[in-house]
Amino acid sequence: MSQALNDSIKYIKNKIGDFEPEIGIVLGTGLGGLVNEIEIAHSIMYSSIPNFPISTLEFHSGKLIFGLLKGKKVIAMQGRLHYYEGYSMQQITFPIRAMKLLGIKHLLVSNAAGSLNPDFKKGDLMIINDHINLQPESPLRGLNDEAFGPRFPDMSQAYSKDLIAKGLKIAKAENINCHQGVYVSVTGPNLETKAEYRYLRIIGGDAVGMSTVPEVIVANHMGLPVFAISVLTDEGFPEDLQPVSLEEIIATASKAEPKMTYILSQLISTL
Ligand code: HPA
Repeated sequence: MSQALNDSIKYIKNKIGDFEPEIGIVLGTGLGGLVNEIEIAHSIMYSSIPNFPISTLEFHSGKLIFGLLKGKKVIAMQGRLHYYEGYSMQQITFPIRAMKLLGIKHLLVSNAAGSLNPDFKKGDLMIINDHINLQPESPLRGLNDEAFGPRFPDMSQAYSKDLIAKGLKIAKAENINCHQGVYVSVTGPNLETKAEYRYLRIIGGDAVGMSTVPEVIVANHMGLPVFAISVLTDEGFPEDLQPVSLEEIIATASKAEPKMTYILSQLISTL
């Protein structure tokens, strides 16, 4: 383990005492509301943790929240880090490594994404069952730390089949319109052109976004089962592409958020 991670963990453990988190949660753009369901035990600003990267986005608040959700001990990252902010892939995924070292056994991830599949509409949810990485590098590039995982980690079940089945069942029982599909990650921060949306659909994408894949690769490297869910905030349908703003993306994410929060919290109760 790197000295930098060691120092972060030491600082966090000193703050949280004997709190032993079981589940890590990464909350995406406009999707921080799950935190309201947590009985908060400790809250630590990223900026106070040695070596922790700080979110540069004003709408991502940048806190690690420790507490109880449905009776389970969780850590939630309120505010995630993106490659387009200028961080390296290793920096983006540093908190995932830290959460694993703090003891989490599952990683749950949410994000806002654009729909590529004509049957998946704005405001719908999509459980991610696979991904295509179009970001320019892997967070595993560089010397491999065998203490974390193998040089060439398997990605044949990058998203836990078991967790996907549970998530779909929870959604169905509550009549929530929840699809499953393939998430394509791009660098951003610009959205896509018509030709790019068309291309992303042709190569097999159902949704496109600027996050998640680095975290999922690192989680798989460490053998952590992953569940990831997208809120589809806009429609990347090239025949009728409408301009979209960050405000609209956040507004759509906030509107759909209660459905997503429901699925995540019910899922957590089964873990
Ligand atoms: N493209 C890329 N990232 C996104 C989108 C999109 O259309 N919507 C939300 N995040």
